[in-house]
Amino acid sequence: MGVARALPLQRRAMKTILITGATSGIGLEAAVILAREGHRVVLVGRDEAKTRRSVDEVKQRSEKPNVESLRCDFSSLASIRALAEAYRAKYDRLDVLINNAGTVNNERGLTKDGFERTWAVNHLGYFLLTNLLLDLLVKSAPARIVVVASRGHYRGTIDLEDPGFEKGGYSIMGAYTRSKLANVMMTRSLARRLAGKGVTANSLHPGAVRTNIWTGAPGWSQPILSVLKRLFMISPEEGGRTLSYLATAPEVEGKTGLYFNDNKEKECGALAKDEALGERLWVKSAEWVKLPTAG
Ligand SMILES: NC(=O)c1ccc[n+]([C@@H]2O[C@H](COP(=O)([O-])OP(=O)(O)OC[C@H]3O[C@@H](n4cnc5c(N)ncnc54)[C@H](OP(=O)(O)O)[C@@H]3O)[C@@H](O)[C@H]2O)c1
Repeated sequence: MGVARALPLQRRAMKTILITGATSGIGLEAAVILAREGHRVVLVGRDEAKTRRSVDEVKQRSEKPNVESLRCDFSSLASIRALAEAYRAKYDRLDVLINNAGTVNNERGLTKDGFERTWAVNHLGYFLLTNLLLDLLVKSAPARIVVVASRGHYRGTIDLEDPGFEKGGYSIMGAYTRSKLANVMMTRSLARRLAGKGVTANSLHPGAVRTNIWTGAPGWSQPILSVLKRLFMISPEEGGRTLSYLATAPEVEGKTGLYFNDNKEKECGALAKDEALGERLWVKSAEWVKLPTAG
């Protein structure tokens, strides 16, 4: 038996993989790894020229031609809806959805839909896109949803009446950890909804990674961050491997509703495990993004 034959089917099959936030950092590196593995990779970026450059870079570094792109600004619900439509118009299957686009915001600000920016991009963006593509994932089963959360979720709080800190108390980390807690909660709610349908949903912490996301931190913290980056943070490629692991590794086949750190299952935070709160977040999120059909 040859090497290729000995590989499990999951490893050999070419998957169609949609990855958001693929123009930089962890997402870009994961795209290179997944393209190299022989999958069809669709990069989502918000800027046309940068997205085109990223496609070229992924093709060149992976030495594979099967790399395409779509555009979306995740701070706009209309743009997310347009992305889902564009995806459906072009592709008839989706084997892996990787929700990765993420932001931090030093100052509180609102999107044009009226949501606090971190909440909008990091949580509502994942929630709406995933729901709009859910039937395609089910149709493509076995399929996987990968949610890039963070170990910051352990410190997150949820306020369903005031998710965007309108009544005060905004801080860059408060907003970020709240959005990342919502990522883990959404993943667990998804896993419950998708039980028996052949689609798994898992979230992960990619490690502390040297990426552009840190440029959003306050100016005073930049000198400290540059030391931390040099001494303690892992490379974007190492971070990217944690995404590709959940996306295609055969060891993860069938596992769902879990949180991973360093490619190992890890207990998520107590709030993240609160199913009743998770369900309330799901219902509220469906209202916020005007998705009456979200189950
Ligand atoms: N780096 C870490 O240590 C770390 C730790 C835990 C979790 N994470 C998570 O990892 C994910 C990726 O972050 P990263 O570290 O790779 O940071 P990054 O290099 O800044 O990449 C973020 C990606 O998200 C995209 N993005 C941001 N806002 C967007 C918007 N409104 N619409 C569309 N795309 C948008 C960016 O697009 P542009 O290229 O156009 O800016 C970029 O492609 C995030 O979800 C983050 O929370 C990172």
